[in-house]
Amino acid sequence: MDLDTGIDDALAIAYALATPECDLIGIVGSYGNVLMEDGVQNSLNLLEMLGHPEVPVFPGLPHSSTTDSFAVLPISAQIHGQNGVGEVEIKKANRKAEATSGVDFFIEAAHEYGQDLIIVPTGPLTNLAAAIKKDPEIVELIGNVTLMGGALTVPGNVSPVTEANISQDPEAANEVFRSNLNLTMIGLDVTTRTLLTTTETQQWRNLDTVAGKAYADLTDYYIDAYKVTSPHLGGCALHDPLAVAAAVQPRLVETIELNMKVDTQAPFAGRTIGDETRVNVPALHTKAAVQVDKDRFVADFMEKLTSL
Ligand code: BDR
Ligand code: CA
Repeated sequence: MDLDTGIDDALAIAYALATPECDLIGIVGSYGNVLMEDGVQNSLNLLEMLGHPEVPVFPGLPHSSTTDSFAVLPISAQIHGQNGVGEVEIKKANRKAEATSGVDFFIEAAHEYGQDLIIVPTGPLTNLAAAIKKDPEIVELIGNVTLMGGALTVPGNVSPVTEANISQDPEAANEVFRSNLNLTMIGLDVTTRTLLTTTETQQWRNLDTVAGKAYADLTDYYIDAYKVTSPHLGGCALHDPLAVAAAVQPRLVETIELNMKVDTQAPFAGRTIGDETRVNVPALHTKAAVQVDKDRFVADFMEKLTSL
């Protein structure tokens, strides 16, 4: 996983840990909801609270490949809290991040696990783009990249055409989309249909555990933020957990296959769209999710999180 650990990233960690088909071999830190180093600390703290201090966490790149001015999105504090986890105080982990960089971890993991490796980025694509630039061979080795980001059939969430993760580093995202990686895009098209409300979070609070209470509190912060920013949805969007779910249960989503690009220039910088230069190329590299079995996913998500 490659996370900018805010609230839905935190939900994705818990979901991955509770998914038996998923062997979480590492978390790479990114920036966006919070600064990279704060996201890394959040991941370490959450893993320890959830009883999984064995999962290594690697520092990633702290800002985009072209600028350092958008290391944290201006609206993030409102949605994820200043600390990224809804101002909930989670006990500080007893360990630190690994010394190896997240970029090198991706390269090493690709060589070690090959087609068994699925990378799930739920933040900007800066680390993955840097890894394929440093070792282009990994493009053919990695089994699949299932990323949360982009929007194809609905508007963006930071501009009419731009989703938050892609907006942070359109150049890196374009490198990833235009590479030969086997990609699955879990964009706003599907993530804004998988919603949670306080009815569900109350079930975690009722567990009467430290993790259950913390997860209920941080998710309620996110639900409250959605009431202000996206009241039409009627809940908070499970963006990042849905990417983990689609990585291990691809049939949860319906996809269309195409070759995509990301616009890097104004006025559409950050837009994810079909690549007109590869329209007639027979090999299609991206599966973009356009439908989701939302009831099945939310039921599965709740069953797994209440088991933690
Ligand atoms: C994405 O942006 C981030 O704020 C969320 O964690 C999610 O990954 C949604 O656009
Ligand atoms: Ca995220």
